Formats: sequence, structure tokens, C-alpha cells
Amino acid sequence: MLITGFPGTAKTTLSGAFAEAACRRGERTMFVSFDSDSSEVIRNLTSVRIRLDPYVRSGCLRMISARTITGSAESLLVRIKTFAEQHRARCLVIDPVSALSKAGNESTAHGVAERLIDWAKAEGITLVCTSLIDELSGHTNGSGPLHISTLADTWIHLNYLVQAGERNRGMSIIKSRGTAHSNQVRELILSDAGVTLADIYTAGGEVLMGTLRWEKEGTERVAKEVAEVEGKLRRVSLDAEEAVLEVRAKSLQTELKAKQVEKTLLARTTESRKGELSRRRARMRELRGADGGPAGRKLK
Ligand SMILES: Nc1ncnc2c1ncn2[C@@H]1O[C@H](COP(=O)(O)OP(=O)(O)OP(=O)(O)O)[C@@H](O)[C@H]1O
Ligand SMILES: [Mg+2]
Repeated sequence: MLITGFPGTAKTTLSGAFAEAACRRGERTMFVSFDSDSSEVIRNLTSVRIRLDPYVRSGCLRMISARTITGSAESLLVRIKTFAEQHRARCLVIDPVSALSKAGNESTAHGVAERLIDWAKAEGITLVCTSLIDELSGHTNGSGPLHISTLADTWIHLNYLVQAGERNRGMSIIKSRGTAHSNQVRELILSDAGVTLADIYTAGGEVLMGTLRWEKEGTERVAKEVAEVEGKLRRVSLDAEEAVLEVRAKSLQTELKAKQVEKTLLARTTESRKGELSRRRARMRELRGADGGPAGRKLK
């Protein structure tokens, strides 16, 4: 895996994060620094919450400062291999691999980088190499590019975006063999809290990072909150309307029941009136002796 970028774009920081993650998984790791002493690397990474010292103490991580190692690219490669084999490393960081080009002519350095990658692949070692890109020429540092980008399986590129008086870091994957990787440039944020990636926003075709992204995120957050409050208010008002309708439905049901009772009572009263009337008529006929009842019989 190759990490390229301009000076200060966080190449060492990302390799440090890789080493820390590997050690956390219990994979033996070796970190070769051509730039700084091991203690400097560890101290600088602490600033972004990457803690390598516990793994150095436990023996999982071996830090090597190659600044003091002199010799040709060939001899450097031999020493790196020996150290890695001694340490039984499963993960290896070379920071920066472009330093190899300083230790020989371009073609030797190219051959050495190729052999380093072939050896790491054969040994099943995950290799992370950083490479400085000269801001002016756009080439990897040294007399010429190491062509390592064509050998690497994955290539991550870091750059700066200067916008609204700010310089922010952007990270993108240029290639990752055999993987459908993201095509998005993400903002790489370094802080005391650690290393994070943020989605970048585009507005009017322009990419927003840093404060502009923060402002855009704020606006979107407020709009989301307003929409949530509106949604809640609508729900409350619908609940109230539902409650009113339920009360009305209940009152209508009670009214309906009352009408039904009234109807039943009316039917019963009519029936009993009818019965009373026919009884009275029968009694009248009886009294008049129309049907030869007791009164008629008495008169005879
Ligand atoms: N706590 C922090 N908050 C914000 N930025 C930080 C913090 N700690 C370190 N940095 C920044 O991280 C950057 C260093 O990153 P790093 O050393 O990984 O870059 P690099 O690409 O390896 O640089 P070089 O090309 O010099 O090797 C510095 O610019 C530093 O200001
Ligand atoms: Mg560095």
C-alpha cells in the first residue's frame, strides 16, 4: 500500500494509525522511519492520540530509525529484511520509501523497491510505504519517481485544498486492486481527539472543506432540526384532531343508543295502548250487550 502526499499531509500519521491498528489486532509490526528518530515519531503521533509506546514495550512493535543507517539501497533492503525476519513482522511500514532513492541511483532504487514489494508479498507481509511528493514538480521525491505506484496494490493520495483562507487536507484512493473503492475525496481531520475522515460537501460545483464544510454542516443540522420540530408539531396536531373525532364518535354512539332505547319504548307504549284500546272496546261491547253478554242477558 502506497501513501503519497505533499510535506505535512499526514503520511507518517496514517502509517502510525496503520501500525497501531495492526498491533491492536496482535499482528507483529515493524516501523522503519527514514525521517526521524523512533522516539520523535512516537511523541509526534501521541499528539493525534496514536499510542505506539505500549506496543513497543510489549514487543509487538519494533521501531527502527533508518536515519543513522548508511549504505546503498541494496544494503538498506537487506537490513530491513533481516530486521523484519528477526521480528517475525506481519506488517511493515517504510516511511518514506522515497528515501531509498537517495541511497543510490534511480534504477537501483527502482529495482530495490520492486524487490521489497515482491519479498513482502511472498512473505505475506502487509507493507505500507509512504512517498513524499514534491509540491513543485508533482513527482515523488528524489531524482525521479520510484515507479512504486505501479507496483502497489493500493494507492492513497493526500493533498491540500486551500480555500477561504484555510489549508485543509484531502484524502482519496487512486487505486485498490480487486476492490470497488470509493471515488470520493474526503477531508482528513487531525486533532487532539485523533484522526478522522469527514464527508466533504459540494456547493455550486465547489468542494467545501474545513470551516466552509463546518458551516454547511451547521446549516444542514439546523434545517434537519427544524424539519424534526415541524414533524413533531404536525403529529401533536393530528393527535389532537384524532382525540376530538374519537370524542365525537363516542357521543354519536351514545346518542344513537338513546334513540334506539326511545324507539323500543315507543314501540312498547304503542303496543300496550293498542291492547288497552281493544280491551276497552271489548268491555264496551260487553256492557252494551251487543254480543249477548251478561248485560244483555240481564235485560231479558
Ligand atoms: N493535535 C493535532 N491537531 C492538528 N494537527 C496536528 C496535531 N498533531 C499533529 N498535527 C499535524 O500533523 C502534521 C504532521 O503530519 P505528518 O508528520 O504525518 O505528515 P507527513 O506527511 O508525514 O509530513 P512529512 O512530509 O514532513 O513527512 C503536522 O502538520 C502537524 O501540524
Ligand atoms: Mg512524515
